[in-house]
Amino acid sequence: MIRRPHLACLRPPCSRVGLLALLAPLVPTGLFAVFAVFAQFVLAAGSTAWAQTRHLPLAQVRSGLAFAGADVRALQADEFGNPAQLWLGRGEQRWREPQGPAGKSCQSCHGEVQQSMRGVATRYPAIDVKSGELLNLEDRIRQCRTRRQQGPELAWESDDLLALSLHVSQASRGQSLRVTIDGPARQHWQQGERLFLQRQGQLNLSCANCHDQNQGRRLFTDILSQGQPNGYPVYRLEWQGVGSLERRLRSCLVGVRAEPFAWGALEARQLSLYLMWRGEGLPLEVPAVRK
Ligand code: HEC
Ligand code: HEC
Repeated sequence: MIRRPHLACLRPPCSRVGLLALLAPLVPTGLFAVFAVFAQFVLAAGSTAWAQTRHLPLAQVRSGLAFAGADVRALQADEFGNPAQLWLGRGEQRWREPQGPAGKSCQSCHGEVQQSMRGVATRYPAIDVKSGELLNLEDRIRQCRTRRQQGPELAWESDDLLALSLHVSQASRGQSLRVTIDGPARQHWQQGERLFLQRQGQLNLSCANCHDQNQGRRLFTDILSQGQPNGYPVYRLEWQGVGSLERRLRSCLVGVRAEPFAWGALEARQLSLYLMWRGEGLPLEVPAVRK
């Protein structure tokens, strides 16, 4: 694994550590140890941030759209021809549709989606304050459906769930990804990074092997992108339908002949959190189309 220098290192805690390393040869060892302990203490007290390695520097972050063929880009840009529009229309209906004993719709509690859900999709996966669990946007919607609306459960990857998720996501169109990885989310981000760098499957490849180190190269008929999460839920031509980021991750795992995560698995959420952080600043581009 090549550890490239990264932008996060220009932030204060990290650059202070860098400075320490530079000064080290100038200070006698014993004194340096005392100095280092003292510095650690000051760093810990001064900031809640920690050293993060950006294997993909922020300045090089590119949407999957930039790697897509002209046909896919044209389809995504076509406001009427984009097949994801069908799911968007369905999502709008579901948003207004009463469900459960009280006959409430999403709209009854949340109002117009463009206002109430603006920016929401850019910050998921996120920690649910009450349960402390890491939830992705689909989890959140499923939870609202059963607990708040008391309506019938929305099945994983069902058209209704994806339609609602797409409808909520398009309220953040053009806004930058900005998940929180501090506090209780931190351990999940760390796990996500570990999963991203870990070789797996019979092909013994990590996500980073393809999406960091070989981006822009051809793999069979595909050009490898950076594996960015900013177009999800996505319309994928191969699926002939819309699918979630979780489904895309499963495809990549199957691609390297690894056992895919079970639906709802924490690992998929941790990996998604890592991807969202890795693509920080990219605009949300739903409804997106991919091959
Ligand atoms: C009875 C009222 C009610 C209904 C009906 C309802 N919600 Fe919610 N929803 C809430 C409340 C309250 C929250 C605040 C967070 C919480 O649940 O802890 C919330 C939170 C959310 C969030 C997270 C917002 C954020 O800022 O992170 C999403 C997304 C959401 N709801 C989507 C939906 C969708 C989609 C539906 C319809 C299937 C729906 N909700 C139906 C009350 C409702
Ligand atoms: C053998 C190479 C390979 C490996 C390893 C791999 N992928 Fe992929 N991945 C692909 C290909 C091919 C595509 C479709 C073309 C593209 O966007 O790169 C893809 C697409 C994606 C996309 C969708 C990008 C978009 O713009 O829609 C995401 C997200 C993704 N991969 C994440 C991952 C993650 C996370 C891992 C590790 C669990 C992983 N991939 C492992 C080959 C790989």
